[in-house]
Amino acid sequence: MSPLQKKFLQLKQDRKAVVLAHNYQPKEIQEVADYVGDSLGLSYEAQKAKGDCILFCGVHFMAETAKIVNPEKRVFMPDLQAGCSLADSCPADKLKDYLSAHPGLYVVSYVNCTAAVKAQSDVICTSGNAEKIVRKVPEDREILFLPDRNLGDWVMQKTGRKMRLWDGDCYVHMEFTASSIDRIRKEHPDALVVAHPECTRAVRALADEVCSTEKMVGYCRTSPSRSFIIVTEEGMLHRLRREMPDKQFLAGPTDRCACAECRYMKMNTLEKAFLALEKLSPELTLPDEVIEKARSPIERMLDWSRN
Ligand code: 13P
Ligand code: SF4
Repeated sequence: MSPLQKKFLQLKQDRKAVVLAHNYQPKEIQEVADYVGDSLGLSYEAQKAKGDCILFCGVHFMAETAKIVNPEKRVFMPDLQAGCSLADSCPADKLKDYLSAHPGLYVVSYVNCTAAVKAQSDVICTSGNAEKIVRKVPEDREILFLPDRNLGDWVMQKTGRKMRLWDGDCYVHMEFTASSIDRIRKEHPDALVVAHPECTRAVRALADEVCSTEKMVGYCRTSPSRSFIIVTEEGMLHRLRREMPDKQFLAGPTDRCACAECRYMKMNTLEKAFLALEKLSPELTLPDEVIEKARSPIERMLDWSRN
């Protein structure tokens, strides 16, 4: 453990802070977090967090979700500018106009969207529960799924349910191509390919398993295979290597580089995380009415995915 990690752990204790980190966070942050997981797991952890405050190491929409499900807690981030291309692809005013022009749609929003978009949604989903959530939407309602057309397409494939898809994508997962994944498959014929559903249909078709980041951990743990090609953001490799040091994890390549990094996730550093706890800033805040409106679709998701 580095000297800064030791100082961070002491400060975390002094502040009685709960540190939540997404699977894509830098290794040195994952190592000192109280919980590391996917968007769904982080929402549950945020909801039940007991400490005096939450330090959320992830991107902005994830910290917003933590604030919405646990509004009494102060929520801090290492860097408030850590956004998400997928959340950016669906501005709240554009959605408002679309819904006025197409009344009666049932809005299922992937958690990768802003609080103002969540506030206009009927239910939220994550990549870990999207299929389950869509299956629970009343049959007689037409669904608008947003903002990720790739995740939406995957859910349509799994459920057979037709949905209107918003035209958004994750710039990181769009970098993986059928040719880049095909190439590494041929180089490592014994390795299983595990891909995130934000990848295109052509990439998903080459995968042995398509799942959320948390489910990747379970899949690799229970699989008899020793070797895996991980087709998602590279931070995932730290988590997998830490938990399964006896297995081999290869980064799914893009056509341009050996691994894909989310520039937003990587805005967070251990130094910034330490400063955020020391200064209790930057703090994530939301207007009360947004918290109020966004809470019910998130709570519906948490309820629906529990049982
Ligand atoms: P997970 O919910 O699978 O952790 O994914 C979040 C994300 O941002 C994927 O790019
Ligand atoms: Fe958003 Fe993509 Fe980064 Fe995930 S990897 S936070 S979807 S930009």
